[in-house]
Amino acid sequence: MENYMSLKAIRQKVITCKNCDLCKTRKNSVPGTGNQNADIVFVGEAPGKSEDLHGKPFVGSAGKKLDEALEYSGLTRNQVYITNIVKCRPQKNRIPNDEEKIMCGNYLEAELSIINPKIICLMGNTAYGSILNGKCVSKNHGKIIDKDKRMYFISYHPAATIYNPKLGKIFKNDIKKLVKIIQKSKRNN
Ligand code: URA
Ligand code: SF4
Repeated sequence: MENYMSLKAIRQKVITCKNCDLCKTRKNSVPGTGNQNADIVFVGEAPGKSEDLHGKPFVGSAGKKLDEALEYSGLTRNQVYITNIVKCRPQKNRIPNDEEKIMCGNYLEAELSIINPKIICLMGNTAYGSILNGKCVSKNHGKIIDKDKRMYFISYHPAATIYNPKLGKIFKNDIKKLVKIIQKSKRNN
């Protein structure tokens, strides 16, 4: 997919996409949403039940945790861009497989090349593993990694924090740290 596409065009493609078998069981595809000029792009794993119903990312209980972390960091959703590794829900929320991740990866690449954010926050092991081949967010959360002229920040998936207040606190502090780093780098430019 080429750079001349707009986010709107990607959204339209995602909505009608049949490039992998997840199209057979989804109710709605879930394109990324947010600010085209965002400094920070957040990448999750895949839509869950609420997202599949509404066609929007992070609108269920994981989304609530993400919203809390954004608010704690002084940001609102419309200042950032939020998307997922795959845009359709795997049944029973299983982890997306390699074929699904590869087929859907074109959309993520197109989103990132249009937005060209200062940093990409990979939330959870699926995002970390798919993009950086990383394992174990619990060891690597809070780290910044440069790869192929892009900068990444590693953190937990917000769903992991739902029944774990300790992780919730760590996640919020990670996001706050990320936002501070970006704000500082803008002041110094
Ligand atoms: N979990 C994700 O990874 N993405 C969503 O959009 C919702 C829950
Ligand atoms: Fe297309 Fe991605 Fe949905 Fe598969 S998951 S059908 S590649 S939009």
